[in-house]
Amino acid sequence: MMAEALAALGVKVALLDIHAEKAEAREAAITERGGVARFFPCDVLRPAELQTCFEEIAALWEPPDILINGAGGNDPRGSTSREFLEPGDVGTPDVKTFFDLDYEGFRSVFDLNFLGTFLATRAFARGMLHRGRGAVLNISSMSALTPLTQVAAYSAAKAAVSNFTRWLAVHFAHTGIRVNAIAPGFLLTEQLKFLHIDPHTGELTARARKVLAHTPMGRYGTPEELLGTVIWLLSDAAAFVTGVVVPIDGGFSSYTI
Ligand SMILES: NC(=O)c1ccc[n+]([C@@H]2O[C@H](COP(=O)([O-])OP(=O)(O)OC[C@H]3O[C@@H](n4cnc5c(N)ncnc54)[C@H](O)[C@@H]3O)[C@@H](O)[C@H]2O)c1
Repeated sequence: MMAEALAALGVKVALLDIHAEKAEAREAAITERGGVARFFPCDVLRPAELQTCFEEIAALWEPPDILINGAGGNDPRGSTSREFLEPGDVGTPDVKTFFDLDYEGFRSVFDLNFLGTFLATRAFARGMLHRGRGAVLNISSMSALTPLTQVAAYSAAKAAVSNFTRWLAVHFAHTGIRVNAIAPGFLLTEQLKFLHIDPHTGELTARARKVLAHTPMGRYGTPEELLGTVIWLLSDAAAFVTGVVVPIDGGFSSYTI
């Protein structure tokens, strides 16, 4: 979605993804509409692959002056099955408590969301440094502000992404490279469905109803509703904006009771 919007504005888009299928479809869709896009297979957790991609893109076009760190997401292995731990839960079949969170699951969520952002930025910001300009956009989450229940690893990782965004914005402040993030609220995408749609009934879960009740606008957002902020943060319209994490959340993060 972001790639297509940027391509429509004339940006040449390199699509780095570990999975070819969706990225190739996106590449084809952009090309069909007259845009310029190219898929580069890449695991953002492998520095050597990131470096190769950077060199290939620089040789094909020029070193990028925009980086969106979009690889990320949640995994049930880093989440508990209930909001609160009750006495007696530990050891109960089908109840996944804090004590059942497995090391690999927790680490994979943390690594993908946080280390993937760090490593990709390290690989691509060097080219921006030489150009004396650049804009990095990280993807944080509502869970970075006040952690959402159950999603322990995801919350920790996204809090790290927000913190790192602000740290790096300061560190790069004299270089011409700006670093910002968006914190999307609840968009009913594939990654959200496992907690929001009951797989047996197809109905909204109790958690989903709670989220909607806590969203002043009373609905899920759509991926399209991120685009205005994304384009603003990446463009010269935000030339004096660095180190911000912009909530796009229908009011979720401002609402208590
Ligand atoms: N969907 C939401 O409601 C929501 C809300 C807040 C934040 N976000 C964040 O937005 C970002 C994008 O989410 P999405 O909903 O578009 O998810 P998505 O699964 O559609 O996109 C993530 C992409 O990352 C790729 N990827 C996974 N592991 C990778 C790796 N090691 N190296 C390279 N690529 C890898 C996947 O193949 C996929 O194409 C994520 O950081 C997510 O946490 C989503």
